[in-house]
Amino acid sequence: MSNGKLPVRDVFSSKFGVIAAAAGSAVGLGNIWKFPYITGVYGGAAFLFVYLGFIALIGLPIMLSELTIGRKSKRNVFGAFKFLAPGSAWKLVGVLGVSAAAMILAFYGVVAGWSIDYVAKAVSGGFGTKSPAEMESMFFRFIESPVSPILYQLFFMVMTMGIVFVGVKDGIEKYAKFLMPLLVLIIIVLDIRAVTLKGAMEGLRFLFNPDFSKLTGDGILSALGHAFFSLSLGMGTLVTYGSYVDDKNNLPLTALQVTLADTAIAILAGIAIFPAVFAFGIEPSSGPGLVFITLPNVFQQMPGGYFFSILFFLLLTVAALTSSISILEVVVAYFQEELNLKRHVSTIVAGVLIAIVGVFCSLSMGVLKEFTLFNLNLFDLLDWISANLLLPLGGLFIALFVGWFLGRKRVEEELAKGAGVIPWLLSVFIFLVKFIAPGAIAIVFLHGLGVFNFG
Ligand code: PHE
Repeated sequence: MSNGKLPVRDVFSSKFGVIAAAAGSAVGLGNIWKFPYITGVYGGAAFLFVYLGFIALIGLPIMLSELTIGRKSKRNVFGAFKFLAPGSAWKLVGVLGVSAAAMILAFYGVVAGWSIDYVAKAVSGGFGTKSPAEMESMFFRFIESPVSPILYQLFFMVMTMGIVFVGVKDGIEKYAKFLMPLLVLIIIVLDIRAVTLKGAMEGLRFLFNPDFSKLTGDGILSALGHAFFSLSLGMGTLVTYGSYVDDKNNLPLTALQVTLADTAIAILAGIAIFPAVFAFGIEPSSGPGLVFITLPNVFQQMPGGYFFSILFFLLLTVAALTSSISILEVVVAYFQEELNLKRHVSTIVAGVLIAIVGVFCSLSMGVLKEFTLFNLNLFDLLDWISANLLLPLGGLFIALFVGWFLGRKRVEEELAKGAGVIPWLLSVFIFLVKFIAPGAIAIVFLHGLGVFNFG
């Protein structure tokens, strides 16, 4: 279907709808679960600054690239490359994207499931007066058990499928417009609580006062991978969403707003978490368990902790949901347009297949722990391959595609539909996607593969 006529497609109904949906995609577990713990692991502010550099120099231009490819082609990520570069191998970038989407959603749904369980635990007062050691064993007992985390994961996948099932405007956009303001409200309440704790300053210092001696090569690779993961880049989420954006939209402005929103929420999440962690004398570098083990301990000691713990895990769940729908949509749009399936059928097929892989991810925490590859269980493997490999690789190709294949004139034509194009800004953009982004990604990659070492 994707080489000839344009199929009839859904369109976002408003500018705010576009931003809510795209920021909803970007703001997710990446911001609230992953960003704080990797910042903690890699030493705090120095990691944050490298991350911010990648966001500005690589993330923002690639986000604009994806939106441009999407709106220009008005197709799913595979169809987009097939349409814009007929008869070439570029469509493999689309295959890469759809595969990355399936992998990410498989493990993403598992963590989102944990988050729902923690809402329930918070409501029922389940954190009680547990000691840090008890909190830790409660977490591991739960994620390693063979039944309940799977039930929560499936419940989350059903919610995700329910929204995508309805469509872009009446499903994705409608829910994002309601959930994103809610999320901003919750995080602001949590921030106010955190910075008014006694001893909050030390946490803020950890987050904002860089000590570059703590930065490792590994930290730099993770900062790049996380910039892609957090902005939902490198696998065609924003190609897909961009394909639903109308021609009047000012794409560079949209890309800027979404990038700023995502970065602001990550920092706000850091501000909610580190002051509390330091105020109660807990290790900031506690890894993936930070929000599930460390924070419940913090809430327990904090005035109003019962209320704030419910709010926090609700925030995490809402953020996960507006992201997971965008990941599923990549696969659904592909099934719909390339395999000529109805939207409802595509949603069910894609959702069920991914949920099944997700079940194995969940089991790989416990019963299937022994099955590892490169020393990683299935969950960690999918996380590592997608964030550190597939997304930066996808991003590299997307930048090369826009910079070298589409080229300045065709990009200008597309951007001019929705806004006056400022020539020098366009030059900067083209320069970044032609040279800087691919160069930086290549360097970080070669480092990651051990070809050389700058750590
Ligand atoms: N950006 C989302 C987050 O931060 C995750 C995501 C990755 C969504 C890739 C879509 C594509 O949680």
